[in-house]
Amino acid sequence: MILQRANKLQGEITVPGDKSISHRAVMFGSLAKGTTRVTHFLQGADCLSTISCFQKMGIEIENTPEEILIHGKGLYGLSAPAQVLDAGNSGTTTRLISGILAAQNFNVTLTGDASICKRPMKRIITPLSMMGAKITSKNGNDCAPLLIEGTALNGIHYDSPVASAQVKSSVLLAGLYAEGATSVTEPFLSRNHTELMLSAFGATVTSEDTTATILPHPDLHGLEINVPGDISSAAYFIAAGLIVPNSEILIKNVGINPTRDGILKVALEMGGNIEILNKRIDGGELTADLLIKSSSLHGTTIEGEIIPTLIDEIPVIAVMAAYADGTTTIKDAAELKVKESDRIAIVSENLAKMGCDITPTDDGMIIKGGKPLRGAALDSYLDHRIAMSFAVAALLADGETDIKDAECVNISYPTFYRDLESLIS
Ligand code: S3P
Repeated sequence: MILQRANKLQGEITVPGDKSISHRAVMFGSLAKGTTRVTHFLQGADCLSTISCFQKMGIEIENTPEEILIHGKGLYGLSAPAQVLDAGNSGTTTRLISGILAAQNFNVTLTGDASICKRPMKRIITPLSMMGAKITSKNGNDCAPLLIEGTALNGIHYDSPVASAQVKSSVLLAGLYAEGATSVTEPFLSRNHTELMLSAFGATVTSEDTTATILPHPDLHGLEINVPGDISSAAYFIAAGLIVPNSEILIKNVGINPTRDGILKVALEMGGNIEILNKRIDGGELTADLLIKSSSLHGTTIEGEIIPTLIDEIPVIAVMAAYADGTTTIKDAAELKVKESDRIAIVSENLAKMGCDITPTDDGMIIKGGKPLRGAALDSYLDHRIAMSFAVAALLADGETDIKDAECVNISYPTFYRDLESLIS
């Protein structure tokens, strides 16, 4: 995919539904009794993987362009799949579904694509095993494929070494089936969509500071869920609108849950002109429209408890930092190395190819911004967030930028290039 410099970006856009919330709507709807109706569902490959896993376990799911209808059969209504479950590229599917599968009365093999089969699963195998789960990494490397032999579980308190909503959610979902309460304490609060949505479905979930607790064996009932726009997808237009001169973009209906809004805080701190309009609660999630105007940005330091609230946005924040005056330092973000690609290495490699002064570190990167960048031939390494971040970098670079395997945006944002094109004037 070849991208060119843009003179200005202007217009209004609605980004697709939130990926984390779309996954959870399908999973929890499958475990609830009755029909769950989901609108503004993300039709990305990751969420389609979740749908396909639950269909293979006997759940009827109707997928139309307007809505998803999940005909849930209750907490104990899943049946043994005839085939292996394939989570594709999706870490959220793999880790969350493992917590559910650990407690069933059947055995499953869970696998995914080449990237998933390299991502660490020990982080869920450890706490789920403490609950009594029987999970074996088939290749003995603590990665998928996983053999999960369903069994009875006991509740635990787990002190998680990582601030990960995937780990937290996996343990809480296993806790739905356990004997006694289950709680998870994290070093910093990660996204809390599981806690919010499971409560709405009828589970007893409480949160205090960075600890979430769930009680077992609830009666979950079908719901209506309107998924807010994904702030992780909006992030590309936030960054693009700020760095490209003479731009003004209105991004409608974006989820701004405080466990997800780190990009807004950082962009404001860097000098970004962002107005948060029409704040409201929609389906239990804080939502707003975002008005973005071109700004002259300066560097900042990003570290500590804000990191989990912007972890998926760091590649595009790095692009903003490259065009900002001064130094941006990103710390405490070693998790980037175990995402869909090693995002510390790949962001550094690609920004360096464009002429940016960037130094990768063990837990982040140091970017000396403000130098003009030039277009280059870049590899997405099949990582959707890398492809979209560098499509944004291309908008202000001299010459052409060629992104390899750019169509990997299908994972989370199938219409990304069309939407970006619609703003270029
Ligand atoms: C997600 C949690 C985050 C995030 C991922 C989606 C979720 O991962 O990076 O894209 O939906 O729970 P970790 O929980 O591993 O940090």
